[in-house]
Amino acid sequence: MPPTTSLFRSKPETIKPILDDIEEQFDLDEEALTSITTQFLADFNHGLSEYGEAMGDDVGPTFVQGVPNGTETGTFLALDLGGTNLRVCQVELRGDKTFTLRQQKYKVSEALKTGEAVTLFDYMADSVDAFLTSSPSGVASLPPSLDEEEKDPLPLGLTFSFPVEQTALDQGYLLTWTKGFSAKNAIGRDIVKLLQDAFDKKHLHVKCVALVNDTVGTLLSRAYTAGGCILGAIFGTGTNGAYVEKVQNIPKLKNSATVLRGDDMIVNTEWGGFNNSRTVLPTTPFDNKLDRESINPRKQAYEKFISGMYLGEITRNILVALVDAAPHPILFKGKASDALNQHYGLDSEIMSHIEEAWNSEAHGPTAEVVTVKLPVSDETEHPHAEKLTEKILLDFTKPLTAATIEPHTLHRLQRIRSVIVARLGYAPEDVSLRDAAVVRWACSIVARRAALLSGCAVAVVARQMGFVKGLGKDAVSEGEGPIAVGVDGSLIQFYPQFEATMREALRLLVGETIEKRIDIGLAKDGSGVGAALCALQAVKQQQGS
Ligand code: GLC
Repeated sequence: MPPTTSLFRSKPETIKPILDDIEEQFDLDEEALTSITTQFLADFNHGLSEYGEAMGDDVGPTFVQGVPNGTETGTFLALDLGGTNLRVCQVELRGDKTFTLRQQKYKVSEALKTGEAVTLFDYMADSVDAFLTSSPSGVASLPPSLDEEEKDPLPLGLTFSFPVEQTALDQGYLLTWTKGFSAKNAIGRDIVKLLQDAFDKKHLHVKCVALVNDTVGTLLSRAYTAGGCILGAIFGTGTNGAYVEKVQNIPKLKNSATVLRGDDMIVNTEWGGFNNSRTVLPTTPFDNKLDRESINPRKQAYEKFISGMYLGEITRNILVALVDAAPHPILFKGKASDALNQHYGLDSEIMSHIEEAWNSEAHGPTAEVVTVKLPVSDETEHPHAEKLTEKILLDFTKPLTAATIEPHTLHRLQRIRSVIVARLGYAPEDVSLRDAAVVRWACSIVARRAALLSGCAVAVVARQMGFVKGLGKDAVSEGEGPIAVGVDGSLIQFYPQFEATMREALRLLVGETIEKRIDIGLAKDGSGVGAALCALQAVKQQQGS
């Protein structure tokens, strides 16, 4: 009988093999990572050549030609839609690699995400209006002033983080919604026009001059602050990357006049849609359940393995299966809290807190999440803590109590227990130390797989741009010097070990020399600054310079 079947015949002695089996399904070795990356590279190149190929519809030229160097100046409005919040910003580029930014966030409700598109765009226009009227002094510094109707309208850059077929800097047609959005009557429509119509209806003296994906914004903004950048990547609610490509390598552009003006163009890869057929992605039943119940089944496969919107749900699926195991429940004495029962009830932020609670060196529970008083001891860490941990924590045939584990591990589990009580709504008496260990284990296997797969995407770009020849054991570094990558998103910023694990995959895929050259830097406020930089480019193009 294969071990997972034992979920339905669980006994203390079969639980460890059940968990081992689940863990094996999430494991990715060098061979698996290399074959995923090889397939990714092939699909991706098809995507650059024709529309309608694997990834082809979504891999997109952006009409952003050229990367800033930090000397750019100007003040622009930026509007950013792509996740939980809508942001309106005023960005001043100071020409010395620095900028100032004033912003206001507005919540995007489920009703707006899933209602009529026109209502969503009206709300966006209302938010810009509220931003402009809330701080007249700030706006006065924007050239030209709002009060002078005869002057040109305020130029605005829109960061719109969904797959778009871009046909000009200020024109792009929505291909599909992602990340839980499904607003009606938007697919196939020009996003800039939808927004401009909403501005015009409200008589706002604002003109949307540029449309940009958040990854492109991240690339441009890191280039502005660091003096150069070749890849902008998001590892947050969604995942995606944009990089600088030679125009001659984008056959699908054919002989477009805009293209002939430059050598390079930023390409939005929309890598979240890689391998939607799931031929190489390591799919488990927990992933299938997530996909089946999502609002976009069989789409955004890669994103569903990696991004913050989904990691919590995959983990929840594992936990629920363990709660349901019979006759011997593996978790929480067979009880589920309301949060655990709820679709998307476990946020990836909770996973991050659980892993932080495990990794943190501090003794005692973490301040932020304490709701139960737990005993604190100041004994020092057991020298073989990790080994002991591995052996004992998930072995249900051995008791797991304060008396059977060393103090450091005990503190870690107690901190995790506090997070579970505070964030998953369990009563303290329903969460054993063993439950804490199992929950942490589930979070770690899901997040580790996500970070390793993220490494594949970065490796694809390094290979595509010629920084490395071959992959895996055949990888040979080309050239020298740092390879600047701008990143943004909650996972890369806050999830413990995310970048370190991603680098582990990179070492396997492109070799240590390249991995060391890859200089990953946070592009803070990348979406806003990137949109401003694009707006600047658009204004310059309009002025013919
Ligand atoms: C989703 C969107 C993509 C965006 C990414 C990160 O994958 O389709 O356009 O860049 O999320 O926000």
